[in-house]
Amino acid sequence: MKPSIYITRKLPDECVLELQEKFDVKMWDHEEISVPREVLFSEIEEVDALFTVVSDPVTEELLAKAKNLRVVANMAVGYDNIDIEAATKRGIYVCNTPDVLTETTADLTFALLLAAARRVVEAAEFIKEGKWQSWSPFLLAGHDVYQKTIGICGMGKIGEAVARRAKGFGMEILYHNRSRKPQAEQVIGAKYCSFDELIEKSDFVVALAPLTAETKHMFNADVFKKMKHSALFINASRGAVADEASLYDALVDKQIAGAGLDVFEQEPISADHPLLKLANVTALPHIGSASIDTRRAMIHICVENIQRILTGQEPKTLVNTQLLER
Ligand code: GLV
Repeated sequence: MKPSIYITRKLPDECVLELQEKFDVKMWDHEEISVPREVLFSEIEEVDALFTVVSDPVTEELLAKAKNLRVVANMAVGYDNIDIEAATKRGIYVCNTPDVLTETTADLTFALLLAAARRVVEAAEFIKEGKWQSWSPFLLAGHDVYQKTIGICGMGKIGEAVARRAKGFGMEILYHNRSRKPQAEQVIGAKYCSFDELIEKSDFVVALAPLTAETKHMFNADVFKKMKHSALFINASRGAVADEASLYDALVDKQIAGAGLDVFEQEPISADHPLLKLANVTALPHIGSASIDTRRAMIHICVENIQRILTGQEPKTLVNTQLLER
């Protein structure tokens, strides 16, 4: 019997052709609707490989049902949707899609920063709603970006790529990270500082740290209070790095000037969510890596990782590398 694979989202046929030639492939047949939990719980029982997306929680309970599972290939660089410890304990490889999405995600992060600063989305809605009556001195006036201070919290590859873009805008670049990044300091001129210094000095506080137990709600009421009243908070990592209730209060109380959010604690966020009612929130539906080329490249890495593991080779981008040491 051929090894079998379950893919939790409908993907273009040509992207999975390689897999179909060698394996038994089953795919959830909706592009924009998550696979129901009961379907996933049933499919996982027999499959050898699972192809997931960020909105699929791969919990201990789900993994406990799997009798043959050897790999979970997650179409994202982040893997907070997967219980890595539970997978590792069972000898299941978890793979992600780093590198290919770095520049695309940095582009979107910077686009979000610019859009929030210069009220681009609000202005676009304004003109289409027929509200433009005349040119006026402060109509939709926003915040300058050029030569302002950006504070990047989480200086991984995407953070560095955002810093490079900021350099082009003549910005002062501060960063906070678990480890120092000498390359970013020497080449881009980024300055390492404490988290407190970063939030106090930055005009744009950019969250790019992965979601972990340590980073959950690291942007809380105390943090928003310490930020400049003129500062904007940009989140392109995971919604839960910020406490959304405190963010809402900080925006309403004008403790900070605005926010650009590509990610939310609960996704998809409801259109009735209070944050989406605020004019000083620029919101996007988690599209950081969403260029056609990059999304294809991400699928390709997942396909390659699955193929390699099911044919006894080392995966290309393994998260739980301790499995290779066993
Ligand atoms: C998307 O959010 C990713 O982690 O790639």
